[in-house]
Amino acid sequence: MTQVTVTVCITCRRAGQDADAPDSQDERAERPGARLLSALADSDLPAGVALRPVQCLSACARGCAMVIEGGAERWTYLYGDLNPDTHVRQILDGIAAYAASADGLVPWRARPEVFRKQSIARIPPKEAPHV
Ligand code: FES
Repeated sequence: MTQVTVTVCITCRRAGQDADAPDSQDERAERPGARLLSALADSDLPAGVALRPVQCLSACARGCAMVIEGGAERWTYLYGDLNPDTHVRQILDGIAAYAASADGLVPWRARPEVFRKQSIARIPPKEAPHV
């Protein structure tokens, strides 16, 4: 059963790339966001973690971007400035720590640097009446 979903924007470019530059279908497949999704899909994700692609998370200026969420009882996080060439190991470690938590609140020191420094937003669990 899927407990945690990681949603990766596959249309993201890295910060600094021209967002308006046209690209062909082949180039689109090679966008950094698509490469990030592929790298995660080719890795050993913890049990209960599902990956899915999305076209734009409205965090384009902070690409690559992804969301990690885990049902109604966990916090949801939006991360940006992710690099498919250098951050995959840290992202996998962060996903594993998140999946092992009951509420998505991983202790600060247990979070990989990418998750400590590149969080754009966090959204409280739906079922928490007071946060
Ligand atoms: S293109 Fe990735 S967040 Fe918009």
